[in-house]
Amino acid sequence: MHFFRILSACVFYFLLMSAVVSAATGSTDPQPADANGYQPRWWKEAVVYQVYPRSFKDSNGDGIGDLKGITSELDYIQGLGVNVIWLSPHYDSPNADNGYDIRDYRKVMTEFGTMADFDELLRTVKQRHMRLVLDLVVNHTSDEHQWFVESRKSKDNPYRSYYIWRPAKNSKEPNNWTSFFSGSAWKLDPATGEYYLHLFAQKQPDLNWDNPKVRQEVYDLMKFWLDKGVDGFRMDVIPFVSKDQTFPDLPANAQAHPEYVYAAGPHMHEYLQEMNREVLSKYDVMTVGEAFGTTLQQTPLLVDERRHELNMIFNFDAVRINQENGVARGWTLPELKSIFTRQDAALDAHCWNTVFLSNHDNPRLVSAFGDDSAAYRVASAKLLATMLFTLKGTPFVYQGDELGMTNYPFKSIDDFDDIEVKNAWKERVVSGKVSAADFIANLRKTSRDNARTPIQWDHSSNAGFTTGAKPWLAINPNYPQINAKAALADRGSIYHYYRAMIELRSKTPALIYGDFKDLDPANSKVFAYTRALGSDAYLIVLNFSKEEIEYAIPAGITAEGLQISNLGKTEAAATRLHLRAWEARVYKVASSNRTAQPN
Ligand code: NOJ
Ligand code: CA
Repeated sequence: MHFFRILSACVFYFLLMSAVVSAATGSTDPQPADANGYQPRWWKEAVVYQVYPRSFKDSNGDGIGDLKGITSELDYIQGLGVNVIWLSPHYDSPNADNGYDIRDYRKVMTEFGTMADFDELLRTVKQRHMRLVLDLVVNHTSDEHQWFVESRKSKDNPYRSYYIWRPAKNSKEPNNWTSFFSGSAWKLDPATGEYYLHLFAQKQPDLNWDNPKVRQEVYDLMKFWLDKGVDGFRMDVIPFVSKDQTFPDLPANAQAHPEYVYAAGPHMHEYLQEMNREVLSKYDVMTVGEAFGTTLQQTPLLVDERRHELNMIFNFDAVRINQENGVARGWTLPELKSIFTRQDAALDAHCWNTVFLSNHDNPRLVSAFGDDSAAYRVASAKLLATMLFTLKGTPFVYQGDELGMTNYPFKSIDDFDDIEVKNAWKERVVSGKVSAADFIANLRKTSRDNARTPIQWDHSSNAGFTTGAKPWLAINPNYPQINAKAALADRGSIYHYYRAMIELRSKTPALIYGDFKDLDPANSKVFAYTRALGSDAYLIVLNFSKEEIEYAIPAGITAEGLQISNLGKTEAAATRLHLRAWEARVYKVASSNRTAQPN
């Protein structure tokens, strides 16, 4: 009897703990941790594809991509083997910052279609057993949002405290904070003679998250979309939501990178935990924070699963290695490797990471990290895919990178759409600080518009993006050579290599959960690393150069079964490798080495 009482107490305790864990995580199916201590989760095993709707596919000839266009190309997206789509903002917006300035969170942007079009997109995505993640842009709204229209009317308007208003200080701005889109972060509003805060464009006033009503509004709009069935959110500049309401000046040493101050507000973690309690914990969804300004030391505070804040964040150290505050800079492979190693070291098995090297705010992947010349574009784009899908973290593919789309050959300021560029032009060129030629030359390497040119679908006029006369942003003139139709028809294309890499990653737990170890950190041309889970280990060797290299695999590791290579036929098993220009290979590590896997 005693034995049965103990047994049933144990069973009861187990069920209780399972319920606690599942309530806390929002998951209905807690599973045991794997050999490396990770809890398996669908969003750790997923590959995410980012769609920037304006540039994806136009269905009605107005020159602007739209939701119906996306729905019509789900075969193309799913053909890669990705399981999650992240949709950049599709909400009603006057488009001062291409949808990152939201006028109505519950309405679809007119140019993108209707709510019925959204529902159809979501339904079709689900029908294909994929998931849809939305962009949650709640650090700021558009100045045309009804809350701000009210807020600016008078100091005693009920919506006044939805935003951050301050009187002048010594007849000037309340402090020296700067906007990411040039100039002061404060704008004087004539109606009441006070300043409002905008960390981005003047048309993007920052919300006041210290007002509990604002937080409740955010939670309600999140539920509105979650109840429709969306599978989570990418959260725009989420660490900026809490501000030090005393607004001290930025000290001189913080002015080059104010994001580290903006991301360190006093209540950010409290608010994210509240959001988790009130909303996220009730759904099985994924969250990824755009954590601009977050240090590696601060990262576990956001993503440690025991803290119930976010699942993962985007860290910008790697993606921004080629620029310093918008100015292009050279970088070395050891620098890049050390970023990945430091990120890995900062996160234990309770945390999770993302892997991304491009998005709508950065230049094209192959132009920034590979070699976009005719000779090496294909090989280097495939090498980068090999890295993207074998580093530790959920990989994010930005639309068009699977085609090896390249930066745009900008010639004049009129070629740009981006508000960041237009404001910087006024501040730097019109004021005479920088020459127009230098300004444009730099933007050819750094501009966000490089990544925003329309997807090149085929070699017909306007690259098959639109049947209209003029796309909203010019199409890259290389579309006759680089386009989806050609890529689908060519088994050796970058697109098909992405598919093969995603398939390899998806069926190989060691490439998802396995330990990462850089075998040769100082090597300036070759990135060689292992991923190991239990007795299963893989070796990844990437030649980041156009030189042929005789590479001796570091002692103790024998490359055995070749899993994939980006240049076709190559050595099957070896201890020395003859690497061709931009060659990338993934090997299984010989079982005799596996127990010796370094950790
Ligand atoms: C980050 C977004 O990715 C970017 O496109 C936007 O301009 C800013 N946040 C402001 O929302
Ligand atoms: Ca359209």
